[in-house]
Amino acid sequence: MSKVVIIGAGGVGRVVAYKCAQAKEIFTDIVLASRTASKCEQIARDIHQDVGVSIKTDQVDADHVDQVVTLFKKHQPRLVINLALPYQDLTIMDACLESGVHYLDTANYEPPEEAKFEYSWQWAYQDRFKEAGLLAVLGCGFDPGVTSIFTARAAKHHFDEMHYLDIVDCNAGDHGKAFATNFNPEINIREVTQKGKYYENGKWRYTEPHTVKRMLDYPNIGSRASYLIYHEELESLVKNFPTLKRARFWMTFGDEYLTHLRVIQNIGMASIEPVMFEGKEIIPLQFLKAVLPDPGSLGENYDGETSIGCRIRGLKDGKEKTYYIYNNCKHQQAFEETRAQGVSFTTGVPAMVGAMMVLTEQWSGKGVFNVEEFDPDPFLDKLAHYGLSWHEMENINLEMD
Ligand SMILES: NC(=O)c1ccc[n+]([C@@H]2O[C@H](COP(=O)([O-])OP(=O)(O)OC[C@H]3O[C@@H](n4cnc5c(N)ncnc54)[C@H](OP(=O)(O)O)[C@@H]3O)[C@@H](O)[C@H]2O)c1
Repeated sequence: MSKVVIIGAGGVGRVVAYKCAQAKEIFTDIVLASRTASKCEQIARDIHQDVGVSIKTDQVDADHVDQVVTLFKKHQPRLVINLALPYQDLTIMDACLESGVHYLDTANYEPPEEAKFEYSWQWAYQDRFKEAGLLAVLGCGFDPGVTSIFTARAAKHHFDEMHYLDIVDCNAGDHGKAFATNFNPEINIREVTQKGKYYENGKWRYTEPHTVKRMLDYPNIGSRASYLIYHEELESLVKNFPTLKRARFWMTFGDEYLTHLRVIQNIGMASIEPVMFEGKEIIPLQFLKAVLPDPGSLGENYDGETSIGCRIRGLKDGKEKTYYIYNNCKHQQAFEETRAQGVSFTTGVPAMVGAMMVLTEQWSGKGVFNVEEFDPDPFLDKLAHYGLSWHEMENINLEMD
């Protein structure tokens, strides 16, 4: 029925390719393209062996609009699922406009020279996508993605007015390495070394990195140290749900992880300023990425699970109410199914389900949309069906002030 091009053959691209292959009745033609063709070919071989479906592969450097346009001309997809790095978002969106292809991604654009996460660059495409009659779906991973859709479900079914939102993200997995990141190290370290930032009473408030800490209890996991950090979905959620008085994001970090991170920062290895090395300019963080474990290799020995959800307080029928919606995902289960670890799995499954919503026109529109603007119900039905079940609790202690 529909041809899809997936760009990016990392951990998340692998999961999306597997999941699209499992839904062959919708994704009738699947092309996986990336900078390094051999990685696409490896994933295609694994899918053929594990799922019994053949997918096509190709090579593209998505930093170049003309190369993406050539790729689209060759394969004629209806939709591109962008799972390369945030740096490629705008070139791929430009190619979509030139070629008449719908767009979906999991992370907002970041300029390579500045660690800054904002939707402004992609929201600026609104008129051009609208005029072209095309749909761009932004941030359809887990967070952003499912967390935003959980919030939309809360607004649709559980509250008349949402006032306080806390997104809580726990990875209680153990991969046995002294230090590794769960997705692209460069993007991950840029994210977690940022200042903390949250929304309160119409204003953004800033905190020094990892200085606001709270012990939070996660289902099936227990109590974990959770730190206030900035995460991109807060920007669109406070815009789309204006009754929110406060919106924050919490992520768990172990002491060992934070100690390594501090050392990496203190010795300048987290820097994105170019330095001269043996007569050549290099970016320290990009060099660090080259020596850290490949997140894609963590799966085999990864134990434990993730737990990510939304804790919300607000009003229903004139009464105060609390609500918690979450998913837990076991790393081993993800690996057995896709040979990828849980963080790639929790990102890839929603990206495939979002693509399915677009191709079946259960999500439609012209222009640029964040996922919470669509109907959450058909998405959440399929999310559970494809491996990420979710649970709800009402009127419990949210452990939040
Ligand atoms: N929303 C969420 O919940 C969430 C969570 C985790 C990750 N993410 C996002 O998901 C995306 C993928 O993450 P990942 O962990 O899979 O990263 P990854 O393992 O580093 O994979 C990135 C892939 O993109 C390819 N790529 C990089 N630059 C390219 C270019 N110019 N042209 C074509 N391909 C290019 C890489 O190719 P090479 O192999 O040649 O380097 C690699 O195959 C990232 O944008 C990340 O921020 C979102």
